[in-house]
Parts: sequence; C-alpha cells; structure tokens
Amino acid sequence: MTILTELHKDHVNLNKLLVVLRRKVDKLKAGDPPNFNLMGAVIHYIAHYADGYHHPREDKLYDYFRGRSSVLDTHLTDCAAEHGKLKLSSTQLSEAIDGVLHDAVIPMGELVDLLDQFVRLQLDHLDSEEGVLFPLIDDAASEEDWVKLDALLVEQTDPLFGEHKAAEYIDLYRDLIADINATQ
Ligand SMILES: [Fe+2]
Ligand SMILES: [Fe+2]
Repeated sequence: MTILTELHKDHVNLNKLLVVLRRKVDKLKAGDPPNFNLMGAVIHYIAHYADGYHHPREDKLYDYFRGRSSVLDTHLTDCAAEHGKLKLSSTQLSEAIDGVLHDAVIPMGELVDLLDQFVRLQLDHLDSEEGVLFPLIDDAASEEDWVKLDALLVEQTDPLFGEHKAAEYIDLYRDLIADINATQ
C-alpha cells in the first residue's frame, strides 16, 4: 500500500463527514436547527486530523516530488496553497460554532455562509487531489520513491475512523453512525 492509498482512505472518510455536514447545513437553511454539538465535533475532528496531520503529511509528499515536471509543480503548488485556505476556513468556522455552543449571538446567515464555504472548499480540494494531483504523482513515482517515502512519512492512527479511536472521538463516531443510518 503506497502513501497515496492511505491518503485516499482519509479522503473517503473526510467525504463521509462532509456529506453529514452538508445535510446539516441544508437543515439549517430550511430553518430547522441541526444538532450543533455533532456539527461542532465534526468540524473539530477535521481541524484536528486534516489540518493537523493529513495536510502536513501531504505537504511533505508534495515537497518530495517538486522539480520533476512543470505541470506537476503547478498542481503541487496549488494544492499546498489550498491547505492554507482550508485551515483558515476551519479555524473561522470552529470559532463560530464554539460561539453558538456558548450562546453567543451569531447571525445564522453568517454561519450558513461559513459552513457553505467550508464544505465547498473541502470538496473542491478532495476533487483536485483525487482527480488530478494524485494521478500525476502516481505517474511520476517509482517503486524506489515509495520505499523512501514510507520511511519518511510514517502513518498515524486516525483518531476517529482508525481501529484505536481516541477517547474524545468515541461519542462522535457513535453519533455519526446513528446519523448516517437515520437518513439512509
Ligand atoms: Fe490536501
Ligand atoms: Fe488530501
């Protein structure tokens, strides 16, 4: 299994969360307040795992492949720059959700805009990596590259979807499964 397969697994999990989140945003737009605790936990997880681990790991992978072709370099630079925008968006959204959970007055329109922007940025980024960048990296890489990268970029257990869940995410995982099953 190459690092691309591990990163792809993260993308599949992230996509599941974004689907749940989008449903909650639609609910909010329809005037029906969603479960803000679940929403906050999903965003907290994305901020923790994606911004704190998945994207930094990708950044190192992208640095490794720089200089092989100008087309690849352009996409590496674009995706690395998107990581910065995603982090800013998740920080702004986390602060807004924390505000809602602590009874601060946040205009709902403002919250909906932040959520819409967050989900759109995340999904567009997944599409760019899965649809364009990862296939380019796969074409450029040799067996030797993957052996080197395996030693360089060690996998970390996913605290939500991994076999050994972090205590703080056990409730979120249970609620997510219930939420996904309830709407199927
Ligand atoms: Fe990324
Ligand atoms: Fe990614």
